[in-house]
Amino acid sequence: MNKNKTVLVCGGAGYIGSHTTVELVQAGYEVIVLDNLSNADASAVEGVEKIIGQKLKFYNIDCNDKTAMDNMFQKEQFNSIIHFAAFKAVGESVNQPLKYYNNNLQSLIVVLEMMKKHNVENLVFSSSCTVYGQPEILPVTEQTPRQEATSPYGNTKQMNEDIIRDTAAADKSLCSIALRYFNPIGAHKSALIGELPKGVPANLVPFITQTAAGIRETLTIFGDDYNTVDGTAVRDYIDVNDLAKAHVAAVNRLAEKKQKTNYEIFNVGTGNGRSVLELVKAFETVNNLKLNYKIAPRREGDIEKIWAETTLANEELGWKAEKTIEQTLESAWNWEKKLRNL
Ligand code: UFG
Repeated sequence: MNKNKTVLVCGGAGYIGSHTTVELVQAGYEVIVLDNLSNADASAVEGVEKIIGQKLKFYNIDCNDKTAMDNMFQKEQFNSIIHFAAFKAVGESVNQPLKYYNNNLQSLIVVLEMMKKHNVENLVFSSSCTVYGQPEILPVTEQTPRQEATSPYGNTKQMNEDIIRDTAAADKSLCSIALRYFNPIGAHKSALIGELPKGVPANLVPFITQTAAGIRETLTIFGDDYNTVDGTAVRDYIDVNDLAKAHVAAVNRLAEKKQKTNYEIFNVGTGNGRSVLELVKAFETVNNLKLNYKIAPRREGDIEKIWAETTLANEELGWKAEKTIEQTLESAWNWEKKLRNL
């Protein structure tokens, strides 16, 4: 393996990790997938292998397991890491904060320690637009001030950003990029990989597709009294394949030493806000079906509206979201149909 063309993907069996692995391989990188499968399924790795037409090197390791990580770093040659591995359920984090602080902070610390020990330079980190809270001015730029987190999950994203910032300040050999994702949705066009939520989905699009598949009776729309186009909350929904390509662009930037500073942050969104109802209608139209839905009160902790300013990512990463919302919602439905044999 060529060290500079090999990427370690921690959390590579997860939703965004699996799509990113596909894009990395298709861009000419070799990928080592690492995942403890605590919130992912080995079938995702098989799905990726089918798409790329080759076997992947896979390690079933928990990033918190320092000895196992040390051994793997010793054995393999790579110069870039994408660190996806983290818990991500906002509600669960409120009920089990220590689970989130323990896992999400410790795993990054181990990754950074191992990078230092084994002279691995490049890190791409999964951050989130959750760090902005409800911004006063939209769209949000990377300069928009962060706000106090409203959940332990959101707090771990802020703390992880700070851990990278401080480590990069102390150690100029660390080259790092945090990508602040907006709302990733959709699936690979092959329908071989997609989102696999465990239990009742908390996120909108998996709930929509499961309702369309008859697994859920009714979609609940949380709140129609927001100050938005139709009263429902507005988000920037980004196609997961486009998001995956942003990671390839970030890895390229690190490998080509194009960074302006050794810790950079980019928003990864489309730049367009869409309301919940707009998304539901677009899903119905493109897939030619009707969804059962009802309006209910606002969900606690939800913000009213957010969407990204993406100029920095467009100009510096040379990346832009390309898929239309229709293509993305079609891919989400195709994935659900394939899963349920519909
Ligand atoms: N929604 C519904 N019904 C549902 C599910 C969601 O109406 O059954 C609404 C929500 O109230 C919200 C919108 O759809 O207005 C989007 O909700 P999601 O749960 O899909 O996404 P969030 O924006 O709440 O959360 C996402 C990620 C988090 C991340 C956050 C950053 O899931 O990990 O974006 O803002 F922290």
